[in-house]
Amino acid sequence: MNSITFRLLEVFQHVVDAGSVTAASVQLGLSQPTVSLQLKKLSTIVGLPLLEYTQGKPSMTEAGMAVYRCAQEVLTSQQKLNSQIQALQGLEVGSLKLAVVTTAKYIIPPMLSPFCKAHPNIDVRFTVGNREKIVDRLKRNQDDLYIFSLPPNDPDLSCTPFKENRLQVIAPPDFDGPQECDLQTLRSEKFLLREAGSGTRRAIDDYCSQHNIHFDNAMVIESNEAIRLAVSSGLGLAIVSEHTLAQVPEKSVKVLNVKDFPLITHWQAVTVNSRPLSLASRAFLESLTGQTDSR
Ligand code: PGA
Repeated sequence: MNSITFRLLEVFQHVVDAGSVTAASVQLGLSQPTVSLQLKKLSTIVGLPLLEYTQGKPSMTEAGMAVYRCAQEVLTSQQKLNSQIQALQGLEVGSLKLAVVTTAKYIIPPMLSPFCKAHPNIDVRFTVGNREKIVDRLKRNQDDLYIFSLPPNDPDLSCTPFKENRLQVIAPPDFDGPQECDLQTLRSEKFLLREAGSGTRRAIDDYCSQHNIHFDNAMVIESNEAIRLAVSSGLGLAIVSEHTLAQVPEKSVKVLNVKDFPLITHWQAVTVNSRPLSLASRAFLESLTGQTDSR
């Protein structure tokens, strides 16, 4: 009789996490028929269906949930073993799975680049997504190290602040409204806001609810770059991290002098206490948090 292998569990976990065979096959670098075949094999070994489909979307059966829990336990043990072996082998091999919120993509690559050059054999995987997506990855324990400015509140997390994140109010270069004011005064301007799952948006919403500010005319754009370009071409005002303004042509947007701004949060390197850190992850964490704020 066939037995369940690590690989079958890993494929199953990817299909559940990615939400489809197609997305999982891309992540795993396998063809779709191979992934479907592996799923079928696992289900045959278990003797029960693991997934059921409603309008083409898979969800786990009870047996599927039991297998998923087992996959998480087995694969976490495997990670523990890997990190112990890597510790014995030293820092020069190993892996680093890094997941960062969209706005942090401006600051992490320059820090990652010298690390990768110094340790060319470390397998680095770098995922970028909005805060909601990265919180979801964290809940699924998918990565070694996360970068947030607003980490979730969870006692199983260690958070180390390492750099300021300053949110500024920006306007088109020819904006002729008030240049020095409070945010309330600007509320009838058109504001371009990030999507609801964004950390930047959450910081803005928190500030607005504390100060009872409601924008009369808001438009959602799911990208920092698109927001900056839209502001630059006169579509409206926005509140963005200063990092998104680095390396843009001078005078393409105007930073307004608004009371309480810049709003300051801190970038934090976040690890899950119950997940063993590989030497590679520990070394990168130290290189991040040991770095002085060079803003
Ligand atoms: P965001 O996150 O890129 O999802 O807006 C930024 C942040 O957490 O500050």
